[in-house]
Amino acid sequence: MITEQQVIDALKYVDDPDLKKDLVTLGMIKDVKVVGKQVSFTVVLTTPACPMKDMIQNACINAVKHYVDKEAVVNVTMSSNVTQAKQNKDALAGVRNIIAIASGKGGVGKSTVASNLAVALAKQGARVGLIDADIYGPSIPIMFDVLNEKPATQQIDGKNRMIPVESYGVKLLSIGFFADPSQAIIWRGPMATKALNQLCFDALWGDLDYLFIDLPPGTGDIPMSLAASVPLTGAVIVTTPQQVALSDARKGAAMFKHEHINIPLLGVIENMAWFTPAELPNNKYFIFGKGGAQQLADEFNIPLLAQIPIIQSICEAGDAGSPVALQTDTLQALTFMDAAKKLAQTIAIKNANEIAVTA
Ligand SMILES: Nc1ncnc2c1ncn2[C@@H]1O[C@H](COP(=O)(O)OP(=O)(O)OP(=O)(O)O)[C@@H](O)[C@H]1O
Ligand SMILES: [Mg+2]
Repeated sequence: MITEQQVIDALKYVDDPDLKKDLVTLGMIKDVKVVGKQVSFTVVLTTPACPMKDMIQNACINAVKHYVDKEAVVNVTMSSNVTQAKQNKDALAGVRNIIAIASGKGGVGKSTVASNLAVALAKQGARVGLIDADIYGPSIPIMFDVLNEKPATQQIDGKNRMIPVESYGVKLLSIGFFADPSQAIIWRGPMATKALNQLCFDALWGDLDYLFIDLPPGTGDIPMSLAASVPLTGAVIVTTPQQVALSDARKGAAMFKHEHINIPLLGVIENMAWFTPAELPNNKYFIFGKGGAQQLADEFNIPLLAQIPIIQSICEAGDAGSPVALQTDTLQALTFMDAAKKLAQTIAIKNANEIAVTA
């Protein structure tokens, strides 16, 4: 006779490799049921995009067979409940994590990275939103093929609330939906900050696991006040390996660490890391240099979350309004999927550590 308690005791031998505690202590095991040799339970992970998902599932099955009964038929359901960053518990209660995608230099691929990370996480089953805060040239509406859409509004408690436009499972709001792009250059910091605040706080986001903010380039007033005005879980710095991009990215990273801003850096994403021609898939040409993003990550003691090569289809798919992360099993889709998993993992660890500190 297998008992539920035996199953739970066996699962105490399975650790979450990131959170470094066992699944039972972490409260991740739910709905344990035993009927004869049939054992079933649910593992509630801290993100649906957990890179260790299969490994944890196998470890659970092995633990029950090893410690309880080698003939047990183990059925594990993997589910998730994304943890909430402490920063936005009050400000935006339904939104669990807000992540800024930033760079010092323009044109390094922030919008491309932001849109593909968002799509990749939505594909994994996460509830995802994306705010395009780039007043200089909002590109998210193009990348999501919603250029001509206008968000509807709904009156709630006498206040007009925007309803985000949805595309590929991602809820979107862009300054581009409201502003005439040719007017953007005359915007000043306070106007941009006010607009971003409205996109963030006056919209009906509903429950979101991850809300990305695609920031405008630079380290001037605008990105700085934008970054300070919303309760960010953290920022991801996008850079190319080129020296000028790296030195601007370093300034961008330092801006977040500034004592008055003090926003955690979640990691670096190196975009345009190398070029591999389609006809020579084993060759890598380091057109913009090599190793710089790793160096930047080391300097700030943060992970290098991904290295994304230059691939023609990444550019073409962006222009065509269908991010490459939507594809199945192509190199470019898998690269963004891995990057998204790494980011989700970093956020889960950060939130767990904060809970541990405040508990
Ligand atoms: N890995 C890549 N491979 C090929 N093309 C890319 C890649 N990343 C970005 N691009 C292309 O480079 C251009 C700039 O990218 P993107 O618009 O994402 O940069 P950005 O940092 O958001 O720019 P801005 O500072 O203007 O907001 C786009 O045409 C995009 O399609
Ligand atoms: Mg952009």
